[in-house]
Amino acid sequence: MDKLRIVGGQRLQGAVAISGAKNAALPQIAASLLSPEPLHLTNLPAVSDVENMLGVITQHGAEISRQGRSVHVDASKASSRETSYDTVRKMRATVLVLGPLLARFGKAEVSLPGGCAIGARPVDMHIKALGQLGADIGIRGGSIVAAAPKGLTGARIVLGSPSVGATETAMMAATAAQGETEIVNAAREPEVMDLAACLGAMGANIEGAGTHRILVQGGTSWRAASHHTIPDRIEAGTYAIAAAITGGQLELTNARLEHMASVVQVLEAAGVSVWPGDRGLIVSRDGPLTPVDVTTEPYPGFPTDLQAQFMALMCCAPGASLLRETVFENRFMHVPELVRLGANITLQGTTALVRGGTPLRGAQVMATDLRASVSLVLAALVAEGESIVNRVYHLDRGYESLDRKLQMCGATIERLPG
Ligand code: EPZ
Repeated sequence: MDKLRIVGGQRLQGAVAISGAKNAALPQIAASLLSPEPLHLTNLPAVSDVENMLGVITQHGAEISRQGRSVHVDASKASSRETSYDTVRKMRATVLVLGPLLARFGKAEVSLPGGCAIGARPVDMHIKALGQLGADIGIRGGSIVAAAPKGLTGARIVLGSPSVGATETAMMAATAAQGETEIVNAAREPEVMDLAACLGAMGANIEGAGTHRILVQGGTSWRAASHHTIPDRIEAGTYAIAAAITGGQLELTNARLEHMASVVQVLEAAGVSVWPGDRGLIVSRDGPLTPVDVTTEPYPGFPTDLQAQFMALMCCAPGASLLRETVFENRFMHVPELVRLGANITLQGTTALVRGGTPLRGAQVMATDLRASVSLVLAALVAEGESIVNRVYHLDRGYESLDRKLQMCGATIERLPG
């Protein structure tokens, strides 16, 4: 397993090209199964989760051709067969093929994802939404088994909480239902909006994406489509924190300020300067950091996917900050590893108390999940001396060429083959 060797102390300077959003690309790839017409996706990030999802639709008979970060999908010959535990175990987002397979073929069988490092992550809201659209759906033998031999029927779906995945499942399935579907308490993430834009290009009629109430007209007549995936706001936020933590300045090309309002607000409160540049967003910090309390929330609140990274930054801000995680029940796996780097963090339930300002020192650390692993890289960029981050395959799931992008900005970082 590859490792990263990092020597701290370099101020990052330069420009970073922000890649397409992993969490927009994954549902869009799943959505290609809805239509017998070709879908051309551009600006996909070169990350292993995208490779995995392309593998999943290929298993279902979709034919894909690649050109750099573009993929041409022809799902005209696709069929619904079981999506195995081994496939889903590798990537929970595989569950996103459930709605499209059921909607197109009238049946689907997808292994339950099981838990993951950041929590149990049930799929009850996905199942309930498809049941409300008329599917006979339940859990049998460790799999979600769904059937709708007479097709799906539009319904009013009220989500218990604004789940990103459940909103996407309901939206995709509703495009093929008969009649109108209303999704209430829908997730408002930009990735949900981008999926709606992709589905719209494919012929679907969706209104209200990005608000808590989405209306989907069913009975879509599908057409050949192209869609350019939005830039990754979480990758952009990660590099913004890299500039802040090292006291440097980075231009994040392609980053979209309008997707990052809550992140920019928190960074500015912490003493970081952010302003629009010619090609994206410029992030700079040359004064002292200020400790800031943060609570993660569904969009447009502060994203849970940046909580670990921001915690690394708060380890360098002299004083106490409280980080409260409200979206996942176990998203502090990075804490013991940050403590190994010399951080002073105390956990109390869903809240972490960070006492920042003591210099971090390099150490061997272990990545546990995608965002935890990048928070360790950020801390290592300022820790005195050498750090080794193990199990960087977690990073490769969601960050394209992280070591190279950081090297280009002056970081002392190299990948050691495992
Ligand atoms: C998406 O996951 C993202 N993944 C996650 O990013 C992100 O952290 C999350 O949304 C929240 O923003 C993708 O888009 C592929 P949820 P998802 O459904 O859809 C509970 C990353 O690092 N829940 O909004 O799985 C769930 O357990 C990843 O890129 C149910 O209880 O998130 C969680 O506590 C990590 N029942 C909360 O809701 C359900 O049926 C939010 O989950 C569904 C979810």
